[in-house]
Amino acid sequence: TESIEQVIDRLCVKIPDHPDPGILFRDLTPLFADSQGFTRTVDSLAEAFEGQFDCVAGVEARGFILAGAVARSAGCGVLPVRKEGKLPRETYRQSYQLEYGSATLEIHTDDLARGSRVLVVDDLLATGGTLEATGQLLHRAGLHIAGFGLIMELTDLRGRAKLGGHRVRALYRV
Ligand code: PRP
Ligand code: HPA
Repeated sequence: TESIEQVIDRLCVKIPDHPDPGILFRDLTPLFADSQGFTRTVDSLAEAFEGQFDCVAGVEARGFILAGAVARSAGCGVLPVRKEGKLPRETYRQSYQLEYGSATLEIHTDDLARGSRVLVVDDLLATGGTLEATGQLLHRAGLHIAGFGLIMELTDLRGRAKLGGHRVRALYRV
């Protein structure tokens, strides 16, 4: 039977020069669309942090796809980390640089009790700006970061170095 790395490799499509020249974009939508691929990915992320989290944070937009599923697999809830201007109540805000461009993320200040253990999931770790900003938001909300669970890590971009010694589990490193 195939390993999870083999499943991810088979269902990831590489697009040269997207969205800008020189960027090899790795598209995981075929993995999300595949019943075995998605189930194994979600269960692998939940298992890697089993017993270590009370809630799953997902970063808009691709992280949302994973967070709800990982939370359901573990029987816990979801904390949405949203792009700016979407959340209706008091928020913490954090701006960050992307591989291409910049953006701002927000969480509500009081969705979770302080001290809750939060697993952060996303599809892909590139420069690490997105997850670094997410970690800063969780810290400001008094939340414990259980770790970061990714499908894919682009190791050349050294994003892991921005994640401050927290546990990082990437199912596929390239
Ligand atoms: C992508 C990806 C990660 C982030 C990785 O999301 O889903 O969240 O970029 O890049 P980084 O490690 O360099 O920060 P994007 O911001 O493109 O948003 P989307 O999910 O709405 O497409
Ligand atoms: N693929 C998908 N998302 C990304 C990438 C990539 O190569 N780089 C930054 N976000």
